[in-house]
Amino acid sequence: MDSELSVVLVIRLLFFNFLLLWQLGNGAKVNNGTTNIKANGDNTTIGALTDAEARTLRLLFKSLQSRNTTQFPLSYPICSTNMDAEIRCSCDNTKNRSACWVTAINLASKMLDGLIHSSISLFKNLRVLDLSSNFLTGSIPPSLTTLQSLRILNLADNNLDGTIPLNLSGLQSLRYLDLSRNKLTGPIPDSISDCQYLNIIILRLNFLNGTIPEALGTLSSLNILDLYSNSLSGHIPVELGELTVLQFLNLDDNNLDGELPEELGNLVDLQHLYLTANKFTGRIPETFDKLIHLETFAVGGNYLSGQMPSYIGNWVNLTKLILIGNNFEGNLPAETFSLPKLQRLLVSDVSNPGISFPKREVIPESLIYLVLRNCKINGSIPEYIGKWPELSYLDLSFNNLSGGVPESFQKLNKLFLTSNELTKLPSWITKKPKPSSYPKADLSYNNFNVKCTNEKCSGLAAVNILPTRSFIDNMKTEKCYRKHNSLFINCGGEELNVGKDHYHNDTSTSSFNLSPSDDWAYSFSGDYLWATVNASTLVRNSTCKDCTPETKIDNDFRLAPVSLMYYGLCLHKGKYIVTLHFSETLYSKGEDHSITGKRVFDVYIQGRLVKKDLNIKEIPELQNEVRKLKFPAKINEGSLEIKLFWAGKGSLYNPPGINGPLIEAISVTRVSRKLHRWEIALITIGCLLFLMLLLAFSLRMGWIGGRKLRSGH
Ligand SMILES: *[C@@H]1O[C@H](CO)[C@@H](O)[C@H](O)[C@H]1NC(C)=O
Ligand SMILES: *[C@@H]1O[C@H](CO)[C@@H](O)[C@H](O)[C@H]1NC(C)=O
Ligand SMILES: *[C@@H]1O[C@H](CO)[C@@H](O)[C@H](O)[C@H]1NC(C)=O
Ligand SMILES: *[C@@H]1O[C@H](CO)[C@@H](O)[C@H](O)[C@H]1NC(C)=O
Ligand SMILES: *[C@@H]1O[C@H](CO)[C@@H](O)[C@H](O)[C@H]1NC(C)=O
Ligand SMILES: *[C@@H]1O[C@H](CO)[C@@H](O)[C@H](O)[C@H]1NC(C)=O
Ligand SMILES: *[C@@H]1O[C@H](CO)[C@@H](O)[C@H](O)[C@H]1NC(C)=O
Ligand SMILES: *[C@@H]1O[C@H](CO)[C@@H](O)[C@H](O)[C@H]1NC(C)=O
Ligand SMILES: *[C@@H]1O[C@H](CO)[C@@H](O)[C@H](O)[C@H]1NC(C)=O
Ligand SMILES: *[C@@H]1O[C@H](CO)[C@@H](O)[C@H](O)[C@H]1NC(C)=O
Ligand SMILES: *[C@@H]1O[C@H](CO)[C@@H](O)[C@H](O)[C@H]1NC(C)=O
Ligand SMILES: *[C@@H]1O[C@H](CO)[C@@H](O)[C@H](O)[C@H]1NC(C)=O
Repeated sequence: MDSELSVVLVIRLLFFNFLLLWQLGNGAKVNNGTTNIKANGDNTTIGALTDAEARTLRLLFKSLQSRNTTQFPLSYPICSTNMDAEIRCSCDNTKNRSACWVTAINLASKMLDGLIHSSISLFKNLRVLDLSSNFLTGSIPPSLTTLQSLRILNLADNNLDGTIPLNLSGLQSLRYLDLSRNKLTGPIPDSISDCQYLNIIILRLNFLNGTIPEALGTLSSLNILDLYSNSLSGHIPVELGELTVLQFLNLDDNNLDGELPEELGNLVDLQHLYLTANKFTGRIPETFDKLIHLETFAVGGNYLSGQMPSYIGNWVNLTKLILIGNNFEGNLPAETFSLPKLQRLLVSDVSNPGISFPKREVIPESLIYLVLRNCKINGSIPEYIGKWPELSYLDLSFNNLSGGVPESFQKLNKLFLTSNELTKLPSWITKKPKPSSYPKADLSYNNFNVKCTNEKCSGLAAVNILPTRSFIDNMKTEKCYRKHNSLFINCGGEELNVGKDHYHNDTSTSSFNLSPSDDWAYSFSGDYLWATVNASTLVRNSTCKDCTPETKIDNDFRLAPVSLMYYGLCLHKGKYIVTLHFSETLYSKGEDHSITGKRVFDVYIQGRLVKKDLNIKEIPELQNEVRKLKFPAKINEGSLEIKLFWAGKGSLYNPPGINGPLIEAISVTRVSRKLHRWEIALITIGCLLFLMLLLAFSLRMGWIGGRKLRSGH
């Protein structure tokens, strides 16, 4: 999320300025041949790098090359006492020609390739090491941890792998540690607690695993702890509640579970709390009422339950409230809508009784983004919502709203009212000519009385109204020219044959499509909250050349942001097996860290929930990474309905941020009933009995014996 990153950046900037002021001294340079350091603008030599330091500098640069050939030539180490020097030195100015030492290496964004040489540990007075945003590979040399003066260590945004050195005890002056956006594995070492002055720890976007060390709780100066998008597991240690000056805590997109510790309520300075896309359960602790400085409270994509706490209404500085995708009950506290700074309010899947609009007319001054999806809201939509000054994004889909779409919604940017009981369209949709501006809107699955042909409602503004509920009902019950015993769809791909099975093509990108043969249809709805994707991203027609038809169907796929429906039409009455093919093709790469993403959605067949919280990665794999789920289905009226629905669980913004259902292929086959063994035995016995009776009867009638007798004559 942009604003969250900017917070980190601002803090980082302030911090660097502060550190820069420590080091004073005259500018001077060292060239290749000599290690003398000269005063800036003056030609007098003020000192010289010690031989050991000069040698180390050359050694260090031998292991680094710049991909940018116009960059300064790194084989000529240049050291200066300038504040902004890439390699900064300090000299002891009290003596003539005193010894000088390297104190800072600032080589961020120099397109550097290569390894971090272990000799770096010889710079005994190094205070700053910033090699961020390069292409460095290899691991972090354990010797680096002997740099007792090091205050800033920034190796972010490289390709470093291996583990964080286990013994960090030597880094006893460290204030700032940023190893984010690398490929580090293994645990966060317990010894991090020996770096007692740490203010900032940023380890986001790595592959760290194991548990969060309890010892982190002893870092009493810690302001920022950012562990976003790793593979950390276990509970949140209660010791984190001792970090009383913590302002920023991000544990998004890990595999943490258990309940949220009450002790986190002691973090009274906390401004940003991110806990999304883990497996947390239980209630939000009562003690969180003390977190009155919170600006971000993000707990979406978990399994939290119970009431949404009423004290949220007291968090006056809240700008982001992200509760989407839990198992909450009850209603939002009424004050939520009057929080003066709230910009984003995202809630979904709340029941018992569910959310209701504020009773009186409130004006959320800053609210831009409002998602109240699948929250059992009933009644009509108040007109005043469209008058909220900043509101531009409104999602009230999958509720039980009735009445009309307010006229005031014309000023919105995006509007989602899918799957409600709305009956009346506003004039900005029905009137001609089309107005010059109106929201991008999805109003499908409502009860509007409009006459439309397949996909188009002529005369109406270009908003999605189809399919209406009655359109679906008609489609399902329409008389069929020919009925089938099976249906195969290559979701997202071309038509092809696998053996005798003909897979239909499914490459349309419109939100609703009825096949030309009228025997199947799909529709999708919703919007990605964090990713911007165009319609062509929603189908993935793979380009593999040597694929067999079998592998081709498992290479193509279709995606949908929130809900994806498939309808099988014109099927014979009977019992069927529905086989759904899945594979997690998007949350699977190491390079972009998408591999830590979690896609979780629900599967409904014929309106019945048959698989809750399905995570594709957790389906047992058959050969060639094919993952299939089979479900029985009964078809009475000729139609089959398969619904995949994202209830907000799992990753919300882990890159690439494309959540929601994903499916590769559907096959629906009629069950030709196999006989049980006892049935076969019974039939066999029956046949035998019949044959014996027949034989006896034939003998009796003389049909068999008679011939012999006759021949005897
Ligand atoms: C710089 O120093 C390196 C190693 O000491 C040496 O190999 C190189 O030739 C020197 N370059 C110049 C231009 O003197
Ligand atoms: C500094 O000294 C070098 C020789 O050591 C000389 O070439 C250069 O011109 C001098 N620069 C100034 C500004 O005096
Ligand atoms: C390469 O280095 C030069 C000099 O430092 C700089 O002006 C240029 O922008 C760099 N090019 C890239 C692609 O970073
Ligand atoms: C410092 O060096 C300068 C010239 O290099 C010399 O004139 C002066 O006497 C020296 N001072 C001391 C205290 O050594
Ligand atoms: C860790 O490193 C410090 C100094 O760097 C050393 O004193 C200590 O013995 C080391 N601890 C272990 C367990 O190796
Ligand atoms: C962490 O990941 C490594 C492989 O990267 C694995 O060997 C190790 O068992 C994992 N540890 C835990 C605690 O999951
Ligand atoms: C809210 O923010 C303002 C401005 O940043 C600050 O002055 C005020 O103390 C904050 N209030 C709380 C309760 O954090
Ligand atoms: C809406 O839901 C609430 C709570 O479930 C209920 O009390 C109320 O009667 C409902 N209103 C309508 C119009 O269904
Ligand atoms: C939806 O609202 C209608 C009244 O508008 C009510 O009769 C119906 O029971 C509600 N359905 C659900 C599932 O709450
Ligand atoms: C998909 O198949 C239908 C007939 O089954 C055909 O009309 C249509 O052109 C095909 N679309 C594509 C993109 O191949
Ligand atoms: C849609 O996005 C894809 C991938 O991001 C891109 O290659 C394509 O050009 C885009 N198409 C349109 C019509 O914007
Ligand atoms: C899908 O890919 C095949 C090649 O694999 C290509 O022939 C076809 O035109 C593509 N269809 C669409 C709709 O992009």
